[in-house]
Amino acid sequence: MTTEDEHPAACIWRTRPLPTVPSEGDWAALSALDRRHADGIAHPAARTRFVIGRALLHAAVTELAPELGHAPIGLEVAASGRLDVAGREDLHISISHTRGLAAAAVSRDVGVGIDVEPIGRDDLPPPAVWLTEEERRRLGGGSRHARRRRLLRLWVAKEAAIKAGVRPRPVTRRTIEVDEEQRRVVGANGTAARTEEIASVSWFVVGDRFLVALARAAIPAVSGRTALTPIGGSGAR
Ligand SMILES: CC(C)(COP(=O)(O)OP(=O)(O)OC[C@H]1O[C@@H](n2cnc3c(N)ncnc32)[C@H](O)[C@@H]1OP(=O)(O)O)[C@@H](O)C(=O)NCCC(=O)NCCS
Repeated sequence: MTTEDEHPAACIWRTRPLPTVPSEGDWAALSALDRRHADGIAHPAARTRFVIGRALLHAAVTELAPELGHAPIGLEVAASGRLDVAGREDLHISISHTRGLAAAAVSRDVGVGIDVEPIGRDDLPPPAVWLTEEERRRLGGGSRHARRRRLLRLWVAKEAAIKAGVRPRPVTRRTIEVDEEQRRVVGANGTAARTEEIASVSWFVVGDRFLVALARAAIPAVSGRTALTPIGGSGAR
């Protein structure tokens, strides 16, 4: 069990290896709507990823908010792609999956984002495309291996911060800047928030193979929950 250090009661994250096929218990954690959605996913690995992601999220949400009981939780997806717990604006959630691992985070107070990547990932886009000038300056030299690891740290931090719903808008990888030393994300490229922390970030290594970043918005920032549509189509669960 891993609990986010600074806010033990406010935010938790969990990971789970991806099995070849989900168990009956995994399927049972899904709402009827999510089960229908999963049934429509033709590719077996993609279906497993979807089911395990939702099952892990269900476990994490009911752990942090036991008042929800163990019944499947209703999830909604915003136009941006962000997931929300239906009817619970106080809960913020995020999931990520990569080949072999799923990760989920739940926060009670501020927007949360999680991202996981294999430590060996070496197909990131060229740094000029997604790093700010300051990040490139700080990156410096070093061995190819060390540089690759640092790039991956920046990458997962940015992905997690984007998912946490941070300001300023529009959020892109080049309008936010990761300060590794301070473990925070700030606005970049001339935005007003340049020196202002917009998210805190923590990194974790899971099983020697995966790098996880957890970002928490610095202010209660997740925008109004209008224009939400249930996952998998229209209609309520
Ligand atoms: C959105 C994004 C962060 C997803 O990351 P990824 O590495 O491709 O995939 P992951 O497995 O880590 O995460 C996938 C999950 O992210 C979530 N997600 C998708 N879009 C999201 C968003 N805008 N905000 C928060 N969470 C989002 C979904 O829950 C998704 O899970 P699902 O596919 O099972 O539904 C990534 O596509 C991205 O950086 N896009 C470019 C920037 C962008 O779109 N910014 C948003 C502008 S406001």
